[in-house]
Amino acid sequence: MRQTLVAGNWKMNGSQEANHQLLEGLKAGVGEGMKSKVAVCPPAIYIAQTAELLSGSSIAWGGQNLSPEASGAFTGEISADMLLDLNCEYVIVGHSERRALYGESDQLVAEKYRTAEQAGLTPILCVGELLGERESGDTEAVVARQLDAVIDLVGMQAISAGVIAYEPVWAIGTGKTASPEQAQAVHAFIRARLAEKDAAVAESMQILYGGSVKPGNAAELFSMPDIDGGLIGGASLDAESFLGICRAG
Ligand code: PGA
Repeated sequence: MRQTLVAGNWKMNGSQEANHQLLEGLKAGVGEGMKSKVAVCPPAIYIAQTAELLSGSSIAWGGQNLSPEASGAFTGEISADMLLDLNCEYVIVGHSERRALYGESDQLVAEKYRTAEQAGLTPILCVGELLGERESGDTEAVVARQLDAVIDLVGMQAISAGVIAYEPVWAIGTGKTASPEQAQAVHAFIRARLAEKDAAVAESMQILYGGSVKPGNAAELFSMPDIDGGLIGGASLDAESFLGICRAG
């Protein structure tokens, strides 16, 4: 039985004051009877504040991005060791905004995944198709290409140390959620593709859905057999809505 994970991706949002309020609200609301594991991924500059406020709680935290390099002359970058230094458990890699706005290739995403996994972080690998790719019937080909780039570089053992998030790009921040059936179909495809290489890894892998998840649609999505929780953007910035989604797990 796979545990559900609900992870919040704050993106480039927050302030010390707003984070404080949000994290205190989450600490007060996460608790007994919640089956999901809960995590938040704040902007890197607020990870120290998050670590301080959440340490001793059941909520985990992580980064939104990392460098594939270990250390050195890479201005503006954050290393895996720095994330570990602040007790991050997770790091998001290959979010569609990084791929689209910052030109991250499948190869670079795979290298980031490898760096994160080798350092002992749990990478959350985002995959997903653009609207045009869905409309032209290429969803599976795109997702397979993004997934295979990582598997080919790191192998099945390392893949199993991470989490996959299927995020159709047309559903991110748009209010258009994939229907539970649409999402389930792609999740099942991802699991079947993993199973071609290693059935046990496929069975144990957490595959999250992301894209306009809200308290009102989370339970139906999370009840699908191959959906093991969610990666939440907008709705993770408000304690009540994020907690509502966490309870749906
Ligand atoms: P959203 O973002 O929930 O605001 O659609 C999801 C994501 O980008 O991870």
